[in-house]
Amino acid sequence: MCGIVGIVGEAPVAGRLVDALKRLEYRGYDSAGVATLEAGAISRRRAEGKLGNLAQKLNFEPLGGNIGIGHTRWATHGAPTENNAHPHATDQVAIVHNGIIENFRELLADLAADGYLPKTQTDTESVALWVTRELDNGADPELAVARTLKKLKGAFALAFLFRGEESLLIAARHGAPLAIGYGTTEMYLGSDAMALAPFTSRLTYLEDGDWAVITHKGVTIRDGKDALVQREQLLSQTAALMVDKGNHRHFMAKEIYEQPETISHTLSHYVDMGAEKVAIREKLPFDFGDLSRLTISACGTAYYAGAIAKYWFERYARLPVDIDVASEFRYREPPLEKNGLSLFISQSGETADTLAALRYCAGQGQHVASLVNTIESTIARESSVVFPILCGPEIGVASTKALTAQLTALASLAIAAGRARGALSAEQETELVQALTALPSAVSAALGAEAQIVDISKRLSKAKDVLYLGRGPMFPVAMEGALKLKEISYIHAEGYAAGELKHGPIALVDEAMPVIVVAPSDELVDKTLSNMQEVAARGGKIILITDPEGAKTVGHGVADIIEIPHVHSFVAPILATIPVQLLAYHTAVFMGTDVDQPRNLAKSVTVE
Ligand code: AGP
Repeated sequence: MCGIVGIVGEAPVAGRLVDALKRLEYRGYDSAGVATLEAGAISRRRAEGKLGNLAQKLNFEPLGGNIGIGHTRWATHGAPTENNAHPHATDQVAIVHNGIIENFRELLADLAADGYLPKTQTDTESVALWVTRELDNGADPELAVARTLKKLKGAFALAFLFRGEESLLIAARHGAPLAIGYGTTEMYLGSDAMALAPFTSRLTYLEDGDWAVITHKGVTIRDGKDALVQREQLLSQTAALMVDKGNHRHFMAKEIYEQPETISHTLSHYVDMGAEKVAIREKLPFDFGDLSRLTISACGTAYYAGAIAKYWFERYARLPVDIDVASEFRYREPPLEKNGLSLFISQSGETADTLAALRYCAGQGQHVASLVNTIESTIARESSVVFPILCGPEIGVASTKALTAQLTALASLAIAAGRARGALSAEQETELVQALTALPSAVSAALGAEAQIVDISKRLSKAKDVLYLGRGPMFPVAMEGALKLKEISYIHAEGYAAGELKHGPIALVDEAMPVIVVAPSDELVDKTLSNMQEVAARGGKIILITDPEGAKTVGHGVADIIEIPHVHSFVAPILATIPVQLLAYHTAVFMGTDVDQPRNLAKSVTVE
């Protein structure tokens, strides 16, 4: 969370810092700020709320200076006020920070004894004050930072700007991503390649523990033990990607509507269309046929992708699967079987809990694979094999096209595993591949239900609570539907296994409760429809998502039926995510929320 940028420039930097921050707003957007050197002195502008507020402030109170740092915040310590906004500064140093300084109370207590007192409620200010004390005690900027870094506990990325140093930024990475960018006469730093895209695509990613001294001449990098190190310079592929909303009102809408195309793109990577077979291009450091178990860890929507994939790997590849949310998995300290594969699913590739789970599994001698959208991310770089999902940058905080791309890739991997383990015949593989290749046009057709969904969403926006029900692989779809509704409309929603309803949640059902049942026709549909009747008998307002076959078997008591095309049951969970995305999107639009940047959330969750 939080986005960091920096420029060691030859021309004014304030406007360019704000432009770069725009590309990092997905990391947090509750306040923002920039600091530059004006005639050698540190000057700052900060503003509460979205980046637009900072840009406006800069219009009225411009900031000069050819060197500077900027920050967009997702608050952890201290309310999202202007006073708590970064950069935090003394008259000697300004800093921006992503992550958490876990021992900040200890540091502040030590500093207070020498009269260095904080003016904010943030953990970050402890770092600014510690560096200042080192400078006051005679250290030069490099030594002051080197000493300070040794005192910090937690996961963080930091950038430092010093009074009177027109050609010096120092950056440090310890658990949160940071990239150095090379221009022809300028140097840059940023939380990711996207931030630096307008400036350069020549990058070096710092490794954990690294800190870098950046001047007009270039960069010197040291590791956690202060030894000089060389880190690879690469040409970023993501840097070239520019993003806009097209004709859509929100990025989320654009990303929902892109899905026929993004799914096709993912498929073209994993499937040999001519042969109607899965063709995995990545060099596998393991054999699917020999694996003892698959362990999946992920968070949020990526976790639901894994939860659906569990059904596929178990059913079609006869491979036992364990799945847990990464934030719990890592603390269970599970014993892992020899020759097991651990798979980490993450759109951003930077989610702190998922990364920690990955490191745990790597330490246990597991094969480590990741499924990511950002192929230059930390999770990708620490995996022995990376499966890309290739859906392009996802900007809306609510994940949509990344989910269907993840599912498309996972379905392909399950087929590959099924073949390698002898659980699928060549004919069965072809049948499943045909089901996958039919998906993009089915998704286009499912998007056609929009007008009806707008109408239902209008009513849904009046609800206080919503239940989502599903059985088998539709259960994670139900949970995903509830998550999507919660995060962008702020309506309370829960996803339940349809069979669990009568073990408690049915007590909630009354005439005011919309219940969204996800039940395309398959071998489980009759059971789910019986559960649905239990809800109808208690007055619940049922919205059924099903296909024409399912719609035929429905009894009475259903308020609305959203019809999606009939597809093979293998890919039905992928298709069923489309109406739940549209329902959440339109409900949020009716509620008037900030759809792309909902309150309290961030796109990339780099704190634990
Ligand atoms: C989904 O809409 C979310 N905003 C969130 O749950 C997200 O899927 C989760 O934070 C995981 O992110 P990742 O895929 O980047 O690891």
